[in-house]
Amino acid sequence: MKQNCYPFEIWPGPMEGVGKTEFVEAVNTLKLCDRWMTPFLRLSGAIPAERKLREFAADYLDSRLPVTIQLMGTDPDLLGKCAAKMLELTGAAGININMGCPSLRVVKNGGGGGLLKKPEQIAGFCRTVAGYLPPEMLSVKIRAGYDSPEDMQIYLPELASDGAVSKIFFHYRTVTENYSPAPLPEREQRIAAAVKLAGQVPVIANGDISSVEDAENVCKVTQCAGIMTARPWMRDPFLLRRFTDQTAPDAATGRELFFAELQKQGVSGGALIEMARMLWGVNSKNFLQLIANC
Ligand SMILES: Cc1cc2nc3c(=O)[nH]c(=O)nc-3n(C[C@H](O)[C@H](O)[C@H](O)COP(=O)(O)O)c2cc1C
Repeated sequence: MKQNCYPFEIWPGPMEGVGKTEFVEAVNTLKLCDRWMTPFLRLSGAIPAERKLREFAADYLDSRLPVTIQLMGTDPDLLGKCAAKMLELTGAAGININMGCPSLRVVKNGGGGGLLKKPEQIAGFCRTVAGYLPPEMLSVKIRAGYDSPEDMQIYLPELASDGAVSKIFFHYRTVTENYSPAPLPEREQRIAAAVKLAGQVPVIANGDISSVEDAENVCKVTQCAGIMTARPWMRDPFLLRRFTDQTAPDAATGRELFFAELQKQGVSGGALIEMARMLWGVNSKNFLQLIANC
């Protein structure tokens, strides 16, 4: 994939539990993305050992593509110190803080989307993390709010004005909406509102973006600076490549090619079944055949 030749930014969404070594290798081999954001590394008590930090990012860094490392936690000083150590050890392109994960366990502990329960504290939290980092290195991946999209009216203007974050990855749902579908005009309306509230800080739109045309329309209508796609990318593995490569295969062919590459890279057992579920869905012939052969 040629980099930076599209008028807006194109990002693969991080997917914890999916982004294992063989998956990353398969994506890299088929050149299915031209940058990475890692899934989250959750911090609780202390900064992990240097070996662990290096290992966490290694698969992604091996690609030699720009890598943004995502961290999750509740203590901004711990996150800031760990982020600085990560940058020193890996030379990563940036650090992202997860402020959107809706998992009940994560939210209960106050991390991920749980941080949005106090939208008035988001900007201060980011300022503290950014204080440990060189300028322009910090971004957030965040949802519209905890239980109301009105929350963005509280956290975005302050994030926009204090320069702590250089980019906002914005998933249009609230945390309590989890993954429930919202009517399409609502998606565009929320993203457009976020772009306005974020002012000079670029917003990368996320949520159900499933084709080049859809992405172009979202960018046009909302004036966002780019798009990120996760599950639709897994249903159409050549989706990101199609932005810059007219010869990229269609979704059905792409799924077959990607699945074959995963097998070549050594994905097997439960991991392969999970990938088949993401690629084709639970009612598909491919998925049903695979579980019948178990
Ligand atoms: C299996 C899975 C794992 C995910 N892991 C992460 C993660 O580690 N960090 C993160 O910020 N978002 C994570 N997400 C959320 C996606 O990156 C994305 O924000 C969400 O799926 C909505 O976008 P989509 O409609 O393009 O999938 C995950 C989503 C899925 C389905």
